[in-house]
Amino acid sequence: MRDYRREFSDFSPVTYLDCAYQGPFPRVTVDRLYRAIELKSRPDRLKAPEYFGLPQRVRGSFARIAGAQPEEIALTTSATQAIGIVAAGLKLDAGDEVVVASSNFPSNLFTWLNLRRKGVTVKVVRPAQDEVTLDQVAAVLTPRTRVLALDWVNYCTGYRLDLAAFGSLIHERGGIFVVDGTQGVGGNPVNLPALPVDAMACAAYKMLLGPYGTGFAYVARNLLPQLDIPVINWYSVVGADDFDSLPKEDFTLIHDARVFDAGETGNFINLHGLEASLEFVEGVTVKEVNTHCRGLLRRLEEGLRARGYLLSEASTPGHESTILGFRASTQEATAELHRRLAANQIEVSLRHRMIRVSPHVYNDEADIDRLLAIA
Ligand SMILES: Cc1ncc(COP(=O)(O)O)c(C=O)c1O
Repeated sequence: MRDYRREFSDFSPVTYLDCAYQGPFPRVTVDRLYRAIELKSRPDRLKAPEYFGLPQRVRGSFARIAGAQPEEIALTTSATQAIGIVAAGLKLDAGDEVVVASSNFPSNLFTWLNLRRKGVTVKVVRPAQDEVTLDQVAAVLTPRTRVLALDWVNYCTGYRLDLAAFGSLIHERGGIFVVDGTQGVGGNPVNLPALPVDAMACAAYKMLLGPYGTGFAYVARNLLPQLDIPVINWYSVVGADDFDSLPKEDFTLIHDARVFDAGETGNFINLHGLEASLEFVEGVTVKEVNTHCRGLLRRLEEGLRARGYLLSEASTPGHESTILGFRASTQEATAELHRRLAANQIEVSLRHRMIRVSPHVYNDEADIDRLLAIA
């Protein structure tokens, strides 16, 4: 079997099990970034085909990972920006309703809550336990509900939501389904066009191992015509690649998701690194990332159960991901375990009174056993 650990920096003596916080660069990404920095110190070598071709190659990679077409992908600098494309683009107004869950990461909350300033009714569903349920959402939907916005994989517990079930629920009532996929994409295979998902936001610095400040928005073809374009990126007009005669007053917008690309789209430093990371993930394959991480987390689940810890619902069949949250019997005991793990250089996160473990392919069974030896 391929020794993935050698393809990353040496973490020893640290055991890094916190990819849900920051995915580390594979060595190939570090090398590529050095080359990108050289390009900036010698811009004479940065030619137009590189400048315009790189975003398209990255877009193609995102599209393959999401099961989508490149025309359905906008390059963004964050999940927040991707959600903003839809939240601003829909031009919601007084009388419109949006439904979100309090368990969403703030990227998928604040942009929606901000619409209250315009008179939009934003309903926040508060899960009774940790996860939002279909019944809870169904109970607050009305004929005025335009948007249901949820996270695919819960950033604390690792619970993977049933996109088909929640998407169908809102579609049956005529609304659209917006999903933050940041903690899911790259670790769980997905085929977005086959799902009732109208838009997905994703930051690329976690399971996709990309640089901070990169990500994408998936905009389904049926949603595109409903979205206003508040900001025109000069890069997203027909003929933008012809520096010699750039369009001026009579420009034509590109008629697909590329029209929402972040400004300075050809950010060659970040995108070079991102391209290498995405090539790495595609080379390993998302399926293999998932199989590897799930194997490790199953080992962890068994060990934690045997020691009496309480596992999150991410251990429920059909809802697993590459993240697992767990608790000790009391909040103090959970915090104390987190301190002990940190003292033993085992890097995991404490999120909403839960310890969150999130491996990637550089982790192995010995990492899990080191954690269990302390727990
Ligand atoms: C589910 C989820 N969405 C988004 C983000 C980050 O979002 P942004 O790219 O807007 O900073 C995180 C970060 O932890 C997250 O867990």
